[in-house]
Amino acid sequence: MERFVSAEEVRQALGAARRDGKSVALVPTMGALHGGHLTLVRAARKRADVVVASIFVNPAQFGPDEDFEAYPRDMTRDLELLAAEDVDVVFTPTVEAMYPLGSETVVEPGTIATLWEGESRPGHFTGVCTVVAKLFDIVQPDIAFFGEKDYQQLVIVRRIVRDLHYGLRVAGVPIVRDRDGLALSSRNAYLSPEQRAAALVLSRALEAVRQQASAGERDALALARLLAEEVAGTSLAELDYAAIVDCETLEQLDVLDGPARAIVAARFGRARLIDNVPIALAGDAVRHLAAAGEATCETPA
Ligand code: PAJ
Repeated sequence: MERFVSAEEVRQALGAARRDGKSVALVPTMGALHGGHLTLVRAARKRADVVVASIFVNPAQFGPDEDFEAYPRDMTRDLELLAAEDVDVVFTPTVEAMYPLGSETVVEPGTIATLWEGESRPGHFTGVCTVVAKLFDIVQPDIAFFGEKDYQQLVIVRRIVRDLHYGLRVAGVPIVRDRDGLALSSRNAYLSPEQRAAALVLSRALEAVRQQASAGERDALALARLLAEEVAGTSLAELDYAAIVDCETLEQLDVLDGPARAIVAARFGRARLIDNVPIALAGDAVRHLAAAGEATCETPA
């Protein structure tokens, strides 16, 4: 595994691979790697000749009162984990390398980035899109891997790839969970044992909503209410939002009439956690949609 810290080195190394006709996959991360990140890396390993992972805690996507300084960092361990997964290139730029002195250019996503996470974290998705665009420009991957864990991020990245003609594939990878259901996240490290136990309400409530929908419940607002009440009623949990949304526009749904996503965000102490599940309609409605040729939001890696 080769490690590079400058864009120029990455360009040179990958230029040679590309001239040899090799395909390149990119897995962007902020490090503090866990099984979710490694699943993305394994999916990339299966799909491309050269796998590039990036580790960069991107200051631009953290708000002034957020956890940029406290965000967990463990470069030595991360590099060992990536080497063990047979990653070819790891890109670990400094802040100065990614944001040249005086740089002001940003990639501003559209209205979809004002919803949900965007509403709670103003500027967050501009920071994400700007750094992701820089990574795409530096690595020029054929395919890039993103987790459904950050579902809104995945949808927004697909948009910028389309809108800015990046001409690469964005593969979505399903959420990896601990055995008890908690979605793996670098921020789980902030949880006390009591907060971690309380945080299980997220996956439990999402699963309850998913089951009700697949049993035939079409009232999306009632499902969202159920989700919100379950989370808000848990001690140590501070609900941010809970909703059933269209899986492409992320707009809140009143009635389930196509592929949707249940999304939730809540704070447990200083850890702000997000989770989501795909919501499938009951059998009849799915068959009806398939017959009508409606798009689904499945994201096969
Ligand atoms: P980070 O939070 O490190 O996540 C890197 C990638 O891993 C993202 O695509 C995220 O969705 C995915 N991921 C995290 N936890 C996961 C889980 N439990 N199951 C499946 N995938 C999971 O997301 C970011 O970094 C940053 O915003 C980034 C895209 C790197 C831009 O800075």
